[in-house]
Amino acid sequence: INILMAASEGVPFFVTGGLGEVIGALPKAIMKDNKDRFDVRVVLPLYDSISPQERNKMQFLGHFHVELAWRKQYCGVFRTEKDGITYYFIDNEFYFKRAIPYGYDDDGERFAFFSKAVLESIHVMDFEPNIIHCHDWQTALIPVYLHFSYHHLHLKSLFTIHNIEYQGKNNLHMLEDIIGLPAEARSVLEYNGCVNLMKAAIECAYHVNTVSPNYASELKNDYFAKGLARIIQRNGQKVKGILNGIDMDLYNPETDPAIFVNYNQQTIEKKKLNKTELQRLVNLPVEEKVPLFAIVSRLVTHKGIDIVAAMMEKLLSEKVQVVILGIGERKFEDYFKWLQDQYQGKVASLITFNQDLARKIYAGSDFFLMPSKSEPCGLAQMIASRYGAVPIVHGVGGLRDTIQDCSKGEGNGFVFEQYNGNDLLHSIFRGLETYKNEQDWNALVEWIMGIDFSWGKSAREYERLYMELDKVLI
Ligand code: GLC
Repeated sequence: INILMAASEGVPFFVTGGLGEVIGALPKAIMKDNKDRFDVRVVLPLYDSISPQERNKMQFLGHFHVELAWRKQYCGVFRTEKDGITYYFIDNEFYFKRAIPYGYDDDGERFAFFSKAVLESIHVMDFEPNIIHCHDWQTALIPVYLHFSYHHLHLKSLFTIHNIEYQGKNNLHMLEDIIGLPAEARSVLEYNGCVNLMKAAIECAYHVNTVSPNYASELKNDYFAKGLARIIQRNGQKVKGILNGIDMDLYNPETDPAIFVNYNQQTIEKKKLNKTELQRLVNLPVEEKVPLFAIVSRLVTHKGIDIVAAMMEKLLSEKVQVVILGIGERKFEDYFKWLQDQYQGKVASLITFNQDLARKIYAGSDFFLMPSKSEPCGLAQMIASRYGAVPIVHGVGGLRDTIQDCSKGEGNGFVFEQYNGNDLLHSIFRGLETYKNEQDWNALVEWIMGIDFSWGKSAREYERLYMELDKVLI
């Protein structure tokens, strides 16, 4: 079965978050031991940030024009291979040669172009996909085009929702201006007074999934579905939850070159060296015994940063240290800068994003805070666990599917139920109680480091979905 994955980002070329990590890891997990049954390839936009070295290795496959309703756009197609996976790139400098990849007023148009270009580029590829696996709103028009105007490709679509917060809502003008679909498509794309790309993909794709079973059931409820609960309910029989995994080789404290000292379950005492080196690096007093809390996150409300702010000063009245790494909403960035000033020697606020630093923090911290208001899956709690930083999480979405509270047998973290600062703080205090008993704490760290969060089981679930789709006749 030939599968083409279409996405707006992917490791190792360009990544801003979990989506890119999944695009980097899932094709490999499926192809591993399975090359004779599945050929998974990936198509991405050729962003300006992709290095000249990478570009030089690419092979040019051809070019053509993509017609949007009111203009013809150039589209070049490139191909390259990396770590055993074949990648295709869609080139258009007007849309993709920009300083940053997202965040422009015309993002809707840019990814409408990308979606259509992906389908049109298949005729110049050395590949005949049976299934197209689309991820998030940026590729949501692909199932829509397939449903209305590209039957001749005989392609079946799977649409994965990584986060329903971002639906690709656009002004209704988009319908006339750029999409170029038949009139019937209008009623599918139009929703609550705007064009909603994710909504349309849920309706048009053959199968839909999201990134954890618990989030899949939460999406039937409008508190989580952000206006799409009715659509999810109506398409309920085709919406499934498949838990993400992490790349256990990439995130391995035993071999990770980014951390100060490598360690494993048998040598957790070396984690302490990572802690003291981290303290030195971020200008905190070097104190091996003081519990160190970490936050590595986009600094936005739905990641729970508002309730972190609500309880932070109470936490800081204890003997603790806190390291924050991330960028996001201005008010939260300013808040953490202020906090660092107020609590010198206790707080280090690193308002940036950097993979290398993130790994040093996973390796050097004792607790990892992830109090998201909603969380489709979440990868950071699994990565933290692999590095022996005990997760403290809100019991929602994929956090619920991956972290069990320590008060229950086999617990691997601390979970709070009600979304507010006090409940978060209470779970932190429960964590600190365990931390005080060195033997219990070491046993917990050792146990969580060994938990299998690899893609194995979930990759098999995607394979089953692909096989099911392959049988559908169109
Ligand atoms: C999004 C979600 C996150 C998920 C990731 C990968 O970033 O917010 O929960 O883990 O996608 O699917």
